[in-house]
Amino acid sequence: MDLQFFLCWRVAPLFLLMPCGLHCMSVRILDEEPVHVIPGSSLVLRARIEHGPLEGVSMVTWAREAETGASAARVTLATCPGRGLKCAGTKPSVRVNTEQQETTLQINEYSRADSGVYAVTVRDLTGAETTAHCIVREYEAVHHVSVSINVSHSSLVCGEAWGTDPSFSWLHERAAISQTVGKVSKDGTTLVVTMTPICGHFTCMVSNKLGYSSATYTAAPCETEGRGTTAAVVCLVFLLLLFGGVLAFLLWRRHRQNNRGERLHEHLDDTI
Ligand SMILES: *[C@@H]1O[C@H](CO)[C@@H](O)[C@H](O)[C@H]1NC(C)=O
Repeated sequence: MDLQFFLCWRVAPLFLLMPCGLHCMSVRILDEEPVHVIPGSSLVLRARIEHGPLEGVSMVTWAREAETGASAARVTLATCPGRGLKCAGTKPSVRVNTEQQETTLQINEYSRADSGVYAVTVRDLTGAETTAHCIVREYEAVHHVSVSINVSHSSLVCGEAWGTDPSFSWLHERAAISQTVGKVSKDGTTLVVTMTPICGHFTCMVSNKLGYSSATYTAAPCETEGRGTTAAVVCLVFLLLLFGGVLAFLLWRRHRQNNRGERLHEHLDDTI
């Protein structure tokens, strides 16, 4: 079966079966919500416009509203009117590019004031409008890291306040967590401690694209290990001293013997 025939007789009727037939327009923002933007960088939102073969876009508008708060003042950022869809931004930092199937909004030098709910509205040739929304927030640094202990479950829980996409990792005495120390949960926030008794310093590090912050839980010092090390050091020092003493004694004895020998020679020389 040739493709054209297939399209004409099989696909075309599908349009008629669709709820809005050939006159159906939709717009969808392609970026995953919520979009987080690092202050000073650029925000870019892309939207796809879908419409039937008999449809056309007569106007595209980008706007922003506050995400929360009663005063949901709507700020128009750019409009792209007419057949040519030539866009005009309301601020120099706003760039919009629109074609029949796609529209792109770019905001340079993003700041906190640019956060909110972004809306792209597409108007078709009959004047009907359809809108898509997308939440945009500032990318926040990691804040207020803390570690608390859950005594009943022998676990340490790491908390963080409002950083974007925090990733958690743990250290015990500045080394990675080994199996003898404990096990970190899948999301990284909890360390189930298997060592008994719990001792030493447990550090939780939380990081994201803007940097990291850490907090430490200090348990009792690791006693046995500490005592063992001290004993070993004392032993070593004692052995070294002993060895040094023996060596010094041997050298001294040898020196004295040599001296006596020389004196004997001298004496003999004198008598000859
Ligand atoms: C300790 O952890 C368990 C299990 O995760 C939890 O159910 C419990 O509420 C925690 N206790 C405290 C005091 O946080």
